[in-house]
Amino acid sequence: MNSNFMVSSFPLSRMRRLRQSVNIRSIVQSHQVSVDDLIFPYFILDGEKQSQEIASMPDINRLSIDLILADLHQLIPLGLKAIALFPVTPSHLKDNSGTEALNSDNLMCRAIRKIKSVFPQLLIVSDVALDPYTSHGHDGVLDKDFKMLNDETTEILVRQSLLQAEAGADMIAPSDMCDGRIVAIRKALEASNFKNTIIMSYSAKYASHLYSPFRDAVGSASALSGDKKNYQMNYANACHEALNEIALDISEGADIVIIKPGMLYLDIIKSASDNFTIPICAYQVSGEYAMIYQLSQGNATTLDNLMHEALTAFKRAGCSMIISYYTKKFILNLNKKII
Ligand code: PBG
Repeated sequence: MNSNFMVSSFPLSRMRRLRQSVNIRSIVQSHQVSVDDLIFPYFILDGEKQSQEIASMPDINRLSIDLILADLHQLIPLGLKAIALFPVTPSHLKDNSGTEALNSDNLMCRAIRKIKSVFPQLLIVSDVALDPYTSHGHDGVLDKDFKMLNDETTEILVRQSLLQAEAGADMIAPSDMCDGRIVAIRKALEASNFKNTIIMSYSAKYASHLYSPFRDAVGSASALSGDKKNYQMNYANACHEALNEIALDISEGADIVIIKPGMLYLDIIKSASDNFTIPICAYQVSGEYAMIYQLSQGNATTLDNLMHEALTAFKRAGCSMIISYYTKKFILNLNKKII
């Protein structure tokens, strides 16, 4: 314990003095979630005026680009600063090596170009990995034992990153967990004069069961053969492995690191924020959203109350920002002062 930590005993000290009114509670409060901290993910559909519900993610829809733009027209004036994009690739375009990822006119690149042309200030986080494009649902190309090939995948991810940077992505977010991909992407970006493209690395990404609604949303769930344990991290390991991953990514040129999932991994977030100085992002993943949503369906409490508590926990643990499917509701609630 810190030697400056002074405590006097009761009744000199009454901890409840600082909890007695709204105003005193507000003025001593150390953390506050704001719209400036939130990144809203979109699942992009091909076509126009397309909106599909996602069974496992209530109130979140897959949207075609025109409908994403309509949403943004509403949310940006209210303060939305950043979005993350994930394409839903039509199945006839998927193959073993995710070839469609390298089509400069694929859904992802078209969405980035269009959104950037209408909202140049909006920060676009683009997902780099092959799972939305592969017929087997893995994040890269596989060897004969269905393990992800590291260096071969990295080469493809580098080309995918360049295409997304070219299309106008502000932040490249590799979510694949290959070793050495950050330095490879950074070097390629520098060589192609994308000096200001931010790399937001999924540095500590665990092989989690909480991603299943997302896999449903992008349509990689039914195809996924096996699990992702030969590249995503083992959640039974202590923080050291995550700190190693983060240190490597920083040394390779990452500007921001992501820890994912969020809520069950607050120990990792806290440890990262105690040990590093670069901004940390938590990904409150699809399964967390679905879980919290389910709890709010009884009469016991509201989604807003639960999400406010969960998002504040990320700030308390040391996050600068949070990718959350609740972002839109948070923004639409801003004027209501519901909490
Ligand atoms: C895959 C990817 C996943 C998520 C984001 N990118 C799933 C996975 O690794 O299988 C999950 C996000 C979520 O659950 O909300 N590159």
